[in-house]
Amino acid sequence: MVDNEPFLAKIASFMITATKRYSASVGRDTSKARTYANLFGYFKRNRWIARRDCNQVFGGALKTATTHLKKPVSDMRVLEIGHGQHATISLLFHSSGAKTTGIDMDYVRFGFSPKTYWRIFKLNGLERALTTLGRNILFDPGYYNEVQKCFGKTLQKRDLNLRRMNAADMDFADNTFDFVFSFAVFEHIADVESTAKEIARVLTSDGVASLSIDLFPSLSGGHNLEWAFPDDAQSKRVPAWDHLRDNLYPTHVYLNKLTATDYLEIFKRHFDVVECAYILEGRSLLTAELEQELTKKGYTRHDLLARSLRVVLHSKKQGR
Ligand SMILES: C[S@@+](CC[C@H](N)C(=O)[O-])C[C@H]1O[C@@H](n2cnc3c(N)ncnc32)[C@H](O)[C@@H]1O
Repeated sequence: MVDNEPFLAKIASFMITATKRYSASVGRDTSKARTYANLFGYFKRNRWIARRDCNQVFGGALKTATTHLKKPVSDMRVLEIGHGQHATISLLFHSSGAKTTGIDMDYVRFGFSPKTYWRIFKLNGLERALTTLGRNILFDPGYYNEVQKCFGKTLQKRDLNLRRMNAADMDFADNTFDFVFSFAVFEHIADVESTAKEIARVLTSDGVASLSIDLFPSLSGGHNLEWAFPDDAQSKRVPAWDHLRDNLYPTHVYLNKLTATDYLEIFKRHFDVVECAYILEGRSLLTAELEQELTKKGYTRHDLLARSLRVVLHSKKQGR
């Protein structure tokens, strides 16, 4: 396996510098170009992300599933909502022997088939097809290599059931899954109420859902990649909490803007919330002035500092 990361890091730095110079020369922010430059910068952490996905995200999901369901992984029927471009968590549950299904609004397949790129182009557009091709060539070999190293076993990509489907309107029969998992997806879902209702419907009576949600009011919650890891690196260009203030540097992804309180109200209508935990960030950057400005807009100090919410939900159906 050739280590191309130093080369990719150089391309990322070059792209960021070139974009800055171009933006300065035309007198405006060329934000799409900068998004791609930032994305390259983000992928400089390719291996770190692979280790996080395998150890923390999958490891945490597996621990929750086995603790709450009290059965071996090979007996579990698992649904991942919003598996994303890598489908790592679905892949790791499948490779561990669980009967796994992943759904996403994007069409995602492993491998380099021209038919796949054609389908991505038709279903999700040219930009998604081109970025997938670029990512497949430049980053994915290193990423999956690292995931496999952490997992310690061969990844079984064959027969993994990935389907293009809206979580708010699922195509599965009632009581189909024991474990529903989702990571960094709910903040992108427009109809959270219908999605929660759908998860409750497809879960068995002793089923469990584990959902991790990146929270909008947090420092990284605007999804500007320059604030993706605020405790490690701060943007010199984009003001802190810009998305709650003047929103000078909006991102191109859809965000429903819900707070943790909004999510919990919805989940409590459909489930018993048995665990609820937060990851905090950005404490040293929340000055008294900023806190005053943003609390006037209705955000609490906790809203501003809570990067993500993780809930474990039990079905309310009879039988638990
Ligand atoms: C930020 S990505 C996270 C992907 C993955 N979970 C990860 O952690 O890498 C959010 C994903 O949610 C998917 N998504 C958004 N809304 C959805 C919906 N209503 N139903 C299913 N998937 C959805 C998007 O297509 C995208 O792949």
